[in-house]
Amino acid sequence: MRALVTGGGGFIGSHLCRRLLAEGFEVTCLDNFASGMRRNIAELAETPTFRLIEIDVTAAPLPDEFRADRYFHLASPASPNPHTPRSYMALPLETALVNSVGMRHVLDLAMRNGGRVLFASTSEVYGDPQVHPQTEAYWGNVSSIGPRSCYDEAKRFGEALCMIYVRKYDVDARLIRIFNTYGPNMDPEDGRMLPNFITQALNNEPITIFGDGQYTRSLCYVQDLVSGMLAIMESGRADAAGRVYNIGNPEEHTILEYAKMVLELIPSSTSEIVYRPPVPDDPSRRRPDISRAQAELGWQPTVPLRDGMQKTITYFREVTSVR
Ligand SMILES: NC(=O)c1ccc[n+]([C@@H]2O[C@H](COP(=O)([O-])OP(=O)(O)OC[C@H]3O[C@@H](n4cnc5c(N)ncnc54)[C@H](O)[C@@H]3O)[C@@H](O)[C@H]2O)c1
Repeated sequence: MRALVTGGGGFIGSHLCRRLLAEGFEVTCLDNFASGMRRNIAELAETPTFRLIEIDVTAAPLPDEFRADRYFHLASPASPNPHTPRSYMALPLETALVNSVGMRHVLDLAMRNGGRVLFASTSEVYGDPQVHPQTEAYWGNVSSIGPRSCYDEAKRFGEALCMIYVRKYDVDARLIRIFNTYGPNMDPEDGRMLPNFITQALNNEPITIFGDGQYTRSLCYVQDLVSGMLAIMESGRADAAGRVYNIGNPEEHTILEYAKMVLELIPSSTSEIVYRPPVPDDPSRRRPDISRAQAELGWQPTVPLRDGMQKTITYFREVTSVR
């Protein structure tokens, strides 16, 4: 079986590539490293069943030499932090295009050659939700003109495009709405909450919380997420094409609790918590309802938060030089 992973050099994609290789797939990774890191997949270069093609998936239709049995479309900047160069707010046009034009190129490849498609959508399609927790049936509360719209609306359009190919062209495209995920291979400088807290704590710098710290987040360890992706992709349900699943961890904590947990797990740190103005459009709560994935796929997260955090901290210690 052959798998194509766009964005395979990124945080989640690098774990997915490893898992697919372990499952016996031949894996082709397409990445332009707009936001990913070469070191995430450097050690795979020696693996004969793995190949990396450095390519922008929006630039031109994808040639049939990339045909596969399974297509995973993950390519897209994913960090919301406007102050970092690889975030979707810093790369708004690239983000809009990779989830629309790039998505189309993957769907066209599958339409011509067969094979299943999984689109990495996001909990951000729910925007600043007015329903808690969010089920897949919730339509969301999204601003089409806000600063996050380059990402939220691009993902919503990507989902709509998949449904066009499912309904009109009989392509077997499936949708995963990924909730906040963490783990090794996250970019320490991408400005997301946990990388920020961990690098700040390791460097004994102030831990910055945007807002009052009472916003909540639910974090899923990347290994659990990848299992969820494969469960959706390999589902044999008759209605699998066009089906959407929330995948995330429903355990909810405030941002302040995460900051305190990081400090507990890095006891040598002398960092103190400081507060900065909130990020515009930042949702105050986000928590997945995963009952559909539990009932239909038998999936649920298994890695306890502290264990996942510890592994992430160990990785960050290895890759970040203390300033
Ligand atoms: N990390 C999360 O918590 C999270 C949450 C929801 C959704 N997602 C989605 O999951 C996917 C992966 O996220 P991630 O956290 O691993 O992000 P990431 O930035 O680490 O990985 C994305 C990868 O896509 C590549 N890429 C971007 N534009 C490209 C293009 N035009 N052509 C080829 N490659 C391109 C980047 O270089 C990078 O390697 C994204 O689609 C993201 O929207 C992630």
